[in-house]
Amino acid sequence: MNDDKKAAALAAIAEVRDGMLVGLGTGSTAAFAIAGLGDRVAQGLAIRAVATSAASERLARAAGILIVDFAGVSRVDLTIDGADEIDSRLFAIKGAGGAMLREKIVAASSDRMIVIADGSKRVARIGAAKLPVEILPFAAAYVLRVLAEMGGAPVVRADYRTDQGNLVADCRFTMPDDVGTLAATLAGIPGVLGHGLFLNEVDAAYIADDGIVTRLER
Ligand code: A5P
Repeated sequence: MNDDKKAAALAAIAEVRDGMLVGLGTGSTAAFAIAGLGDRVAQGLAIRAVATSAASERLARAAGILIVDFAGVSRVDLTIDGADEIDSRLFAIKGAGGAMLREKIVAASSDRMIVIADGSKRVARIGAAKLPVEILPFAAAYVLRVLAEMGGAPVVRADYRTDQGNLVADCRFTMPDDVGTLAATLAGIPGVLGHGLFLNEVDAAYIADDGIVTRLER
């Protein structure tokens, strides 16, 4: 599985060119991309990068990648990130690592967003993975009530805060055919800061199975 994560990551970073501002994802697959980019930087690749989590920022800095503060960035050239599930529509569920809010913001700002994954993440239709929802602590009880009433059976991650200091509830919705309505409904709940449904952000995916990398394009 790790070999496939690495194979997908190395295929994706081949798209990175000199001068790009690169979005760095979060998680074990994205870590292979960060390491691979670090190797290319050591060989002379000139890039800047923004990180979707404190953990990825640490990895990138250790790998010699120049990190800039995303707060001053309006546009990213290319973002490479993992996923918990991805289907042939390039709909994804992300956020097992809790970074989905920053991941979605960076993805939205990106001219191109690539998901990298081993074959276990590819599904016919997204929906089996837990769907993480980031919640402002002030709104916790209200948001959890609404998520429960929606049938999401939310479970708050114990002893966990996001990089922004917020809570995460993992939900299990029966994924409707109209998943866009679910995404919009979640995003519209006061106190919900983000969720792991990525429906419009992903432009391409590199998925590796037994060393064979398949590229999907939107
Ligand atoms: C981080 O919050 C997530 O969105 C990750 O991108 C996702 O969970 C994939 O992580 P792995 O590559 O570790 O499976």
